[in-house]
Amino acid sequence: MVIEWTDAYRIGIPRLDDDHRALVDILNDFFRATEDGEDTRALGIILERFEHSLEDHCRWEEALLDRYNYEGLMAHAEGHRRMLQRLHVFIQPYLDGHLLHDQTCDKCEFLANLLLGHIRDDDFPFKPYLMTLV
Ligand SMILES: [Fe+2]
Ligand SMILES: [Fe+2]
Repeated sequence: MVIEWTDAYRIGIPRLDDDHRALVDILNDFFRATEDGEDTRALGIILERFEHSLEDHCRWEEALLDRYNYEGLMAHAEGHRRMLQRLHVFIQPYLDGHLLHDQTCDKCEFLANLLLGHIRDDDFPFKPYLMTLV
């Protein structure tokens, strides 16, 4: 499984799009490592990198929305918190070393939906607002 980055995911704010693209790259690293049969520890390291990058991204995005007085900021930040929580629960078995090899990557779908859902369903609604200001 590979997520192809396309313009359909582009919001139009370079730092934001770069962040999203970098997050897609990390997931693709994870998918490749899973299919290559890397061990749980190696997969956990990639997922930790993804989690930290996503946390940084959410913080930066919230600061941006705050700077431009976006009225949906509170709800958006709450969505970030819920997403990060779901991710944390998902990652834990990898960090605990409890997961055996899973070369079918049936877990990949969860991660792809989490990130692409964030971009398309959560971030796209603020695009028209920011476009008038930035
Ligand atoms: Fe985002
Ligand atoms: Fe967001």
